Amino acid sequence: MFAPDILQGRVAMITGGAGGIGLDIAKTYGRLGARVVLASRNQDRLDHAAAQLSEEGIDVLAVRADVRNYDEVKAAVESAVTHFGALDILVNNAAGNFYCPTAELSPNGWRTVIDIDLNGTFYGCHAAYKHLKQSPFGGCIISIVTMLGLSGWPGAAHAGAAKAGILSLSRTLAVEWGADNIRVNTISPGPIGDTEGVRRLYQETGREELERKKTALGRFGRKTDIANAATYLASDMAAYITGENMIVDGGRWLKYVAA
Ligand code: NAP
Ligand code: COA
Repeated sequence: MFAPDILQGRVAMITGGAGGIGLDIAKTYGRLGARVVLASRNQDRLDHAAAQLSEEGIDVLAVRADVRNYDEVKAAVESAVTHFGALDILVNNAAGNFYCPTAELSPNGWRTVIDIDLNGTFYGCHAAYKHLKQSPFGGCIISIVTMLGLSGWPGAAHAGAAKAGILSLSRTLAVEWGADNIRVNTISPGPIGDTEGVRRLYQETGREELERKKTALGRFGRKTDIANAATYLASDMAAYITGENMIVDGGRWLKYVAA
């Protein structure tokens, strides 16, 4: 549906890009002309994902980094720039989550998810800033959140608070970095059926049917739905869009409010 060269010449770094939604975004960007950098913790998964992309002829760099560690995130960004000569797009996609009633959640459990989701996103934005502002296309940051960050997320207080924090951070940066021609947006996916998260959080807990019914469309989304939104936001078609939260949730948020 997109012109095949819509991201030609751009370099995109995707945290958590070795699997799930992140890998779909990386593949889609690569197929549309971008050079892609995958950054996450597990080297085997990184190598496997990079091999898949290379087989398709996509120019890819895989860098091991834990987004909880600022030095590792900064090193990953610098490797990307050394390897490809620039960084134009950053997708903060890496996340961690588990269900746990808040009364039983340990301080370290809380800190772990806040560290991955919120602090990891801040580290990515901070480390990438000086390169993004030099992008001839205009820099672009996309962070993956969820509307459960705004509604509150019973059973996942840490992830809900982290995602709400990312939304606020993104709106702040959209204004602070607008003059540097850096656009900062978020995407709020609904439940995406073909992911490990939905398998663990909904399928294994027997909530699949209930969660499906909570969407207006009555079905889970696909990874490609999120990759398409991320492509649109990264492209020139969205050149005047910043500070936006694109909801790609099959109407789940509205139904939740109406129900
Ligand atoms: P996923 O399959 O669990 O992927 C998460 C990725 O993050 C993995 O590649 C993982 O790789 C990486 N990661 C985790 N901790 C990390 C760390 N400390 N440092 C670096 N990388 C780390 O998740 P997903 O379902 O594709 O979700 C992707 C994004 O969409 C997340 O932000 C999630 O919150 C959001 N989202 C998902 C859904 C859904 O239905 N799946 C709905 C709403 C929002 P390693 O383990 O190798 O590090
Ligand atoms: N219930 C309650 N507490 C839990 C938990 C669960 N299911 N899983 C982890 N914790 C707690 C641990 O007990 C620990 O706290 P403690 O030291 O007080 O005991 C703390 O969280 C950190 O756990 P640990 O296993 O050491 O963290 P980790 O850094 O190895 O892993 C996670 C981080 C827990 C987020 C892990 O699930 C992960 O790496 N996830 C990445 C993929 C993912 O979650 N994807 C979903 C995206 S939506």
